[in-house]
Amino acid sequence: MREKIEIFEVGPRDGFQSVKVDCILIPTEEKLKVIDNIIAAGIKHIEFSSFVSPKAIPQLADSVEVTKYVLEKYPNIDLFALVPNLKGARTAYELGLDKVCYVVSLSASHNKANINRTHEQSLEAYKEIRENYPDLEIIVDLATSFGCPFEGKYNDTQKIISFLGDYVKAGMKVCCLCDTIGIADPMQVKNVISSIKENYPNLELMVHFHDTRGLGMINTLTAINLGITKVQSTLGGLGGCPFAPGASGNLSTEDLVWMLNEMGYDTGVSFFKILKAAKEQAAMIPGQYSGHQININANLIGLNLDK
Ligand code: COA
Ligand code: ZN
Repeated sequence: MREKIEIFEVGPRDGFQSVKVDCILIPTEEKLKVIDNIIAAGIKHIEFSSFVSPKAIPQLADSVEVTKYVLEKYPNIDLFALVPNLKGARTAYELGLDKVCYVVSLSASHNKANINRTHEQSLEAYKEIRENYPDLEIIVDLATSFGCPFEGKYNDTQKIISFLGDYVKAGMKVCCLCDTIGIADPMQVKNVISSIKENYPNLELMVHFHDTRGLGMINTLTAINLGITKVQSTLGGLGGCPFAPGASGNLSTEDLVWMLNEMGYDTGVSFFKILKAAKEQAAMIPGQYSGHQININANLIGLNLDK
């Protein structure tokens, strides 16, 4: 049996939030079309939006509308949204979602810039969410897991190990290591993941790499070689945190699908359909698409996208 890798598409959140509103406010119908295309390509897990302050992220101010659409249309897809606080979790829960990503940054200065909270306040809010909504599944999205735009790259694993301890104690089951500024290298990925597994053997890990320095793919593959089977990416490689200077595109979903399918992994995703979805998105929504194959003329690689 081929080994299964589950791709978590986070473009409708991480990608769309990065599109400058003075360039275009993405119409809700276009977002829904993109989500339809992603699911039609075989993706089973989608972070479709976030419940945050619309002043902080105006591009995702329509998240309630998007939630109603996806919940009704896709009862069998794993749907989740990012939340920074209890208010966001309440909205998600009351709309009928059973899963959220709770975001906190390993870097105290990025945590302040991104969500205006200290580490203590973020931990308190996490506990509050767990207490109020014990049946809500929470992935802890640990932003700046490998380094931060303000504090630089982390040289050892001490910081992340001691940070995670409080969350494990508070009940964290799943953590997504997010390389918000694409600063990680494969050796660091190996050290961080090995050290977390050693210290917290029951904690499930996911990864989310940006491709700022062209290392998103090799970092993801390094994680897969260490046994990680759930990986995040964005359609077209669109993405970046608006509160992290220099955070350019994510690892692109279609490039990731191509590599994994070629290697014989079972992703359940059609490369042809996901590339077509990426190209359709780029034609509708202007932005920085850092993917590779989205920028290749399809005819040159023998793909007829009109089929
Ligand atoms: N959803 C919608 N609105 C929210 C909200 C949520 N989850 N949390 C707070 N708000 C609103 C409040 O109602 C308040 O609105 P008002 O000004 O109309 O009264 C306003 O936001 C400020 O609330 P406050 O609790 O004082 O928050 P803050 O100013 O300290 O900002 C966050 C904190 C977390 C709300 C804000 O920084 C944020 O939304 N950040 C998201 C960043 C993000 O998504 N980054 C990219 C993903 S990594
Ligand atoms: Zn990201």
